[in-house]
Amino acid sequence: MTSVDTRPAAAYRVADWQRGYESLTTEYSYAIEDIEGEIPAELEGTLFRNGPGKLDVNGTPLQHPFDGDGMVCAITFKDGKATFRNRYVRTEGFLAESAAGKILYRGVFGTQKPGGWLANLFDLKVKNIANTNVVYWGDRLLALWEAGLPHELNPATLETLGPSTVGDILKPSDAWSAHPRIDPGEPGQDPILVNFSLKTGLTTQVAVHELDLKGHLIRVKSFNIPGFAFIHDFILTPRYYIFFQNPVALNPFPFVLGLRGAGQCIDFKADRPTRVWIVPRGEGAVQTLETASCFVFHHANAYEDGDTLVVDSICYENFPTVDPEQDFRDIDFATLPEGQLWRFRIDLAAKTVEHEAIATRCCEFPTLNPQQVGRPYQFVTIGTAHESIGNAPLQAILKLDLKAGTQSLWSAAPHGFVSEPLFVAKPHACAEDAGWILSLVYDASHHRTDIIILDNQDLEKGPLARLHLTHHVPYGLHGCFVPQVF
Ligand SMILES: [Fe+2]
Repeated sequence: MTSVDTRPAAAYRVADWQRGYESLTTEYSYAIEDIEGEIPAELEGTLFRNGPGKLDVNGTPLQHPFDGDGMVCAITFKDGKATFRNRYVRTEGFLAESAAGKILYRGVFGTQKPGGWLANLFDLKVKNIANTNVVYWGDRLLALWEAGLPHELNPATLETLGPSTVGDILKPSDAWSAHPRIDPGEPGQDPILVNFSLKTGLTTQVAVHELDLKGHLIRVKSFNIPGFAFIHDFILTPRYYIFFQNPVALNPFPFVLGLRGAGQCIDFKADRPTRVWIVPRGEGAVQTLETASCFVFHHANAYEDGDTLVVDSICYENFPTVDPEQDFRDIDFATLPEGQLWRFRIDLAAKTVEHEAIATRCCEFPTLNPQQVGRPYQFVTIGTAHESIGNAPLQAILKLDLKAGTQSLWSAAPHGFVSEPLFVAKPHACAEDAGWILSLVYDASHHRTDIIILDNQDLEKGPLARLHLTHHVPYGLHGCFVPQVF
């Protein structure tokens, strides 16, 4: 009997996807002139993006894209026009490797110095690559990387000003997460930026910092987690910070012995629960509860429903990793778990956690109206695969109505690959979902990147405008939109 292959036909060519990972070494600054459609006249501000810009050092490929040097892009919108600029973050490691023309540092995710394990043995130096996120707060533009200090940049020129202790909030040896959250506050209140530092070892020390609009520290809350913890993101409500401790263990010996990157020494423990840390923002004891074993990089949102905390997160069945012997460009998506949107209901009185899958299609990088962060909400928009089942690169943008249970989608397949979508609220609009979705889309058919502007209330209509850059931008990670035009 012939077996029937029920897998969906590939919505993309692997070679197309791979090309989006070519390094971009040129730094540009220009007005974008090749535009299809019209930039909404009311869209004014700056879109900052960060991500690995170099996937090789002088021709020697990196083992994992997360090891690439941070390159920040700034796209300004004003009066229906737009400009583009990109600059590498001049970290100590970037400058040293640029001068040497070769890899001098081991990457956390597996990139090794040439020369085999002997050349890497006992080399525990960390290269701050400043490649994960970029945030503008308190007149500072900060390129973030979770294992080190942020780097401050000039928001107008993207020139690197140097590592930043964020107004002496951090010590030079501290690490600051790449996932700050902005609490919009109650009506009439100013928003607050909340971020955390994490120092892991036999005990993991976490400090959560709240910064006012001027960037001044207004609250710090510290707590300890026994053992090793790998926590990339967190989420908040008006009364709580919520952290998911992934069920992983670290065996540092292959790293110390020069055999693997530190990130490749993390083992997912499917037989252990995920631990949820619920930390009161004011007085009160930290609580921990357990839920099903899963791996979370990113949370979408959380809110309070009486004594219950509702948390929506992108969950993976296990920790998605690249084999140490394999080039990341050759990964078979079918062998890795896909991210799915799960809803957790954390009952603080009953001390139970229940969960259900809200969206089972492969998705990552959720975005929502910034006014709903930490509050009950109805709409989330997210990057997704073109096909509704199976793991694949993100090629589409999906909007979910969490109350009605409906969804709408725009896809860039077969030649387009989307990056993190960002929600920008339309000025003077009241509806929660009234906003534009901005995303950088790699167009393999022209080997260039488009900046697309979608109407979040009508995704299926397709982009209101496609701004064609004159070159590509390698797949990025995170960024932000601010109303200032620098
Ligand atoms: Fe992230």
